[in-house]
Amino acid sequence: MKRSVKLIAGNWKMNGQADGLAQARRLIEALVSEPTSSRVAVMPPATLVSRLAELASGSVVEVGGQDCRAEAAGAFTGDISAELLAEAGAALVILGHSERRQGHGETDADVSAKVEAALRAGLEPVICIGETLQEREAGRAIEVVRSQISGSLPMSLNGRAFAVAYEPVWAIGTGLTPTLEQIAEVHAAVRAALVEQLGEGGQAPLILYGGSVKPSNAAEILAVEEVGGALVGGASLKADDFLAIIRAA
Ligand code: 13P
Repeated sequence: MKRSVKLIAGNWKMNGQADGLAQARRLIEALVSEPTSSRVAVMPPATLVSRLAELASGSVVEVGGQDCRAEAAGAFTGDISAELLAEAGAALVILGHSERRQGHGETDADVSAKVEAALRAGLEPVICIGETLQEREAGRAIEVVRSQISGSLPMSLNGRAFAVAYEPVWAIGTGLTPTLEQIAEVHAAVRAALVEQLGEGGQAPLILYGGSVKPSNAAEILAVEEVGGALVGGASLKADDFLAIIRAA
């Protein structure tokens, strides 16, 4: 199956204060004057979603959230629903990022409920999976991502737009990346697990790679079989670096 259009997504995490909108403006202007054939998304902190969506309106840049709660509304101080993100102008939402799984104790079942919420609100979920260093060293990387897929992806995803992001925990923010062979091996296993779970519908979703993607390694990673794009953290904060990754796709 041909999935030619890649998705290059920037996860700003808890960054973007002061300089964020200026960087986003620079990114959008560069993509207007020199368009790309890839999809481009920026996931800023929730407070910046609506301003960024306004800025990006009419451009190719899509805006996303970084997490949502499963409920649509209610007494949940400090949380944000998929509906609120959608109303603010988000089109996508990252779910199950390892920083949520580890820092907030999110389980596969929690992630699955959030995926249902995203679909309910019309958001495209970008569902993160990935093994820890300990799990990789124990030879369990494939087993771990297979189990995360089976627990975090509800059947209702079938026929809906979504992406999976393979982000080895040990590669996030460390400058370390798996070898291209390791990336190819896990992405092939993810595709097989998606098809096992969703049938032929499992062929369609993009499988992004995330973890220390930068301008210097983006081209070779994005050329690996079954790598349908990138989920970029640190290097998405500077428009020039993010653009270089987009141009490498
Ligand atoms: P880095 O690109 O900073 O390693 O972060 C990756 C990530 O967690 C994206 O979601």
